Parts: sequence; C-alpha cells; structure tokens
Amino acid sequence: MPYAFHDYHPPAEDLLGEVLGGLARRPKRLSPKFFYDRRGSQLFDAITRLPEYYPTRTEIGILQQRGEAIAVHLGHDSVLIELGSGSPQKIRVLLDSLRPAVYVPVDISGEHLRDSASHIARDYPDMQVEAVCADYSASLQLPDLPQQAARAAFFPGSSIGNFEPQAAVSLLRDVGEVLGPGGAMLIGVDLKKDRQKLEAAYNDTRLLTAAFNLNLLTRINREAGADFDVSRFAHRAFYNEAEGRIEMHLVSSCAQQVCIDGQHIGFGAGETIHTENSYKYSVEEFRELGAEAGFEAEQFWTDPEQLFSVHCLRVAG
Ligand SMILES: C[S@@+](CC[C@H](N)C(=O)[O-])C[C@H]1O[C@@H](n2cnc3c(N)ncnc32)[C@H](O)[C@@H]1O
Repeated sequence: MPYAFHDYHPPAEDLLGEVLGGLARRPKRLSPKFFYDRRGSQLFDAITRLPEYYPTRTEIGILQQRGEAIAVHLGHDSVLIELGSGSPQKIRVLLDSLRPAVYVPVDISGEHLRDSASHIARDYPDMQVEAVCADYSASLQLPDLPQQAARAAFFPGSSIGNFEPQAAVSLLRDVGEVLGPGGAMLIGVDLKKDRQKLEAAYNDTRLLTAAFNLNLLTRINREAGADFDVSRFAHRAFYNEAEGRIEMHLVSSCAQQVCIDGQHIGFGAGETIHTENSYKYSVEEFRELGAEAGFEAEQFWTDPEQLFSVHCLRVAG
C-alpha cells in the first residue's frame, strides 16, 4: 500500500525567527529540533551505531527481549503514532508483534521521514502508513485517522529528555489528549548513571557528535542567510549532575560577529550557544513526570546494566 505524506512542517521563516530569538537570549540558545535537516538526520543515524552511544542498541535490546509483553500492553490493530520516528530500526522490532492497522510516524525531518515511510510501507503492505512531517513541540496536529481503533504511542530514543521537565509534562499531556482515556504509550527514557559513561556517549572519538552539533550552524547559514564561520566554533558536551542532564554547547573560539539576515550578533571568546539538554531520569522520577501529565505507570523494563528504561504508561481515566 502506498504511504500518505502530510506536510505540516513549519515555514522557513519560523527557523529564522526562532534562531534570532534564541541568540538574543543570555546565555544564547538554539532548539535541538533544528539539528535535523537531511545531513543532521544522517549524522544522528551514524551516532547511533557508535560503540560509545549505548542508548540505541540498549533500547533495541529491551524491545527485542520484551516484544511479547509490550504487545500485551499496547494491543493489536491499533493506530500506532510514533513521535520523532527517525530511522525505522526500532519500529521494525515492534511491528511484527504489534501488527497495528495504521502506523503514523511523526518527524520534523521531512526527507528522512519520506525515506523511512516508503521503506516501511513497502515491507508492510497490509498496514496503512500516514507519515506526518511536523514539529510535535508546537502542536500535535494529525490527519483524520480511524476513530474506532484504539490509539497507542511510541516515543523512543529518550527524546523526551530534550525537554525541560515542565515542557516534557506539557508535551506528554498533549500526547495523552491525542490518545484519549485508556490509550497506551511506550516511551524510552535514558537512566541516570555515572558521569564517565554519559559523557563518553556525547564525546565520541570519531567526532560525529561534534559534526552533528556544528551542522546546526551550517544549516542556519543555508536556511537563514547567516555567515557563521563554523571553524570558529567547537563542540562541548558535559554532564550537569545538579540538573541531571547532559548539556551540549557550541563554543566560540574567539571574539567575533556573525550576520544573520542583516542583523549583527556578537560573540565573546569562550561564549557558548546552548544547543541541547538531554535529561536523565531514574525510573521513579520519570513515573512522577508521567503522573503529572495524567498517565498511570503500568510497566517498565530495563537492561541488565540498568542503562536505559522503556516504560508503558496509560492515560488515566
Ligand atoms: C534523538 S532522534 C531519535 C530518532 C529515533 N526515534 C531513535 O530513537 O533513534 C530525534 C528524532 O526526533 C525528530 N525530532 C526532533 N525534534 C522534533 C520535533 N520538535 N518535532 C518532530 N520531530 C522531532 C528528529 O528529526 C529525529 O528523527
């Protein structure tokens, strides 16, 4: 069955406005959602295969081992909505056991989403695929979907950790509204652990995470008419233990000015642009977050090393 593509992607001027707004803040900030142009998505895929980057293989291991139990919780023949679907490696592990009637991958990275949706539609010809290109942090706009089928969500990759805890609650609440009472969500959440392991995952020796972080500036040059000299910025990632998060920054190596759409923005030597947080949660902390968003904690699974958790939450009521 051919897949449908619903383009609710924000217009290019939103990127310019958000970039200028973020660089006017102190400290300067850019949203991690802008990492994912085509090159950013390719770089992220390469990161997931790095030996230091434990989250992807650990989450896939949990999904493979717990597939049957997960299917009991999520049910069959559902409308399965995947948030931040990226490459289809994780959903492939679930599709055979879940056998949803409709699969709705939602991602901001349009070309990458088209590739993934077309591969899934080819390999699962009996399943309806409704790909949605959208910014799920702005609104969870979805096309018309069958009303009679139960809804379930899959939110992998610990992407929820990219949101400040209160913003995470608000996003989860939006997901809960889309699912409706009794709807189930399967969500992957990276666990708190020792600093060395965490920092190694975001400072790989092949420098792919550095390239991923710096690609943001290349994208802003191309899409927002900026003139960042990318060689004058460096990747920095560290664990902020007090906040329970990995922080990624781009550090200006010298005093410099950058021009974006006619506006001049000054950088001091050593000044940073904060580009991403990845909050880490204990199982209990995450269950509390889910409860605040109106979800009941139903089940969770971890790996033997307690690196990563996968939770099944259900919309209360
Ligand atoms: C960390 S990657 C995870 C990819 C994949 N789900 C995984 O688990 O490996 C985040 C994914 O979410 C998408 N994404 C990031 N911010 C988004 C947003 N605001 N709205 C929709 N998709 C977003 C990215 O394009 C990317 O595919």
